[in-house]
Parts: sequence; C-alpha cells; structure tokens
Amino acid sequence: MSPYAADQRIEVVVGDLTTLRTEALVNAANESLLGGSGVDGAIHRAAGPRLLAHNRTLGGCSTGSAKLTPAFDLEAQGVKALIHTVGPIWGDDPLADGTEPLGYRLEDNQLGRCYASVLELAAAHGLVSVAFPAISTGVYGFPKDRAATIAIGHVRAFLLRSALPERVVFCCFTEEDAAIYRARLKPRDILRQIGHPDSE
Ligand code: APR
Repeated sequence: MSPYAADQRIEVVVGDLTTLRTEALVNAANESLLGGSGVDGAIHRAAGPRLLAHNRTLGGCSTGSAKLTPAFDLEAQGVKALIHTVGPIWGDDPLADGTEPLGYRLEDNQLGRCYASVLELAAAHGLVSVAFPAISTGVYGFPKDRAATIAIGHVRAFLLRSALPERVVFCCFTEEDAAIYRARLKPRDILRQIGHPDSE
C-alpha cells in the first residue's frame, strides 16, 4: 500500500486546538502534567480546574509517553478525551553534535514515540478522530521542519496499520507552520506522474 494511502485520513488546519471538536485533543504537556503555557495552558483553561485536580493523581508522565484523561469542560463541544504527551526538549541529546541526519538524535526518537504513544491510546479507546498540536516546536524549541517530518512519518505509519483513529488533524497555530505540514503531505511522486508543476 502506498504511504499516501493514509493521507486521505490526515488533515491540516490553522487555529486554536481547544476550539476543535475531534473526539480527542492532544496536549503538549510537561512531565509533571500540572499545566504550563502554550497548548498546555490553553487546554487547562478550556478543560477547567477538574483537569488539574485529576492530573495531580497521575504521578506525571515521562518524555515520549502519553496519558489519557477525561475532557471535563471540553466535553461540551464533543471532545471525549484529552491525551497528554510530553515531547523532548531540543538540545537534550548529550551526544549530539548537530550533524545528525533525521532520526539519529535522541530527540527525534522521543518525538516519534509521542505520536505513536498518543495514537496507540486513541485506538485502544476507540477514538475516531485525534487533533495534534506541533509537539515540542514551541517552548521546547524543536526545529519545525524536522518535527513535521517526524510527525507525518509516524502518523502515516500508524494509520497504514490501524483502522483507528479514522482521522488525524494537525492543528497549527500559524499559516507558516501549516505550510510546512502541507508541503510534506503533497505526494510528490503522484504529482510527478501526472506532470504537475508542484512536483518540481
Ligand atoms: N493551539 C494550537 N497550537 C498552539 C496553541 C494552541 N492554543 N498554543 C501554542 N501552540 C503551538 C505553538 O505555536 C507550537 O507550534 O503549539 C506548538 C507547541 O508549543 P508549546 O505549547 O510551547 O509546547 P512545547 O513546545 O511542546 O513545550 C511544552 O511548554 O506549555 C509548556 O507545560 C508545557 O513545559 C511544557 C512545554
């Protein structure tokens, strides 16, 4: 099956993740799970204080892992669950010298595990749609292009072997961020076959 067979199930949108109505929203959390700024702050504000009270009972979450919680106040807009994942902090690989190709740094592997961990939880809980922010590309400083390539690769690989979730949304905060994802989701080889100008 072509790696693009999954692409019909992937969507890119621009906006505030907490306004979406997918069955699961993914939080870019920290290891404490007790809130923060960025997406984490927005999710906690939108879900309400019950989320923090609940997360205090979870004992945190390690980098690359994910934990599922109720959506609390976000249930009002049809969200069934929140999936909190902790992305890597860019520059954390003690052995990195900056010349590593994609996939050869500790952070690359940890970020890939975030996407896989979230999707495994979503599928296990029968959730049909999941919206991701661009994990680690804000406060955690992960290069956006590199992160998008990792995100799309892991989401495609998972969707090719799993019927659930049926739909994955990449929710970008800006048009510039969305353009990075859209460029990678355009199947160049198919475009090249039909001689489309974008395939250059
Ligand atoms: N909706 C969608 N995307 C958002 C939103 C939002 N409401 N707020 C921020 N973003 C974007 C950022 O522009 C960035 O592209 O989400 C991406 C991730 O940024 P952060 O939220 O800073 O997450 P991250 O880089 O993973 O850092 C996690 O930041 O908020 C703290 O507690 C959190 O310590 C943790 C760290």
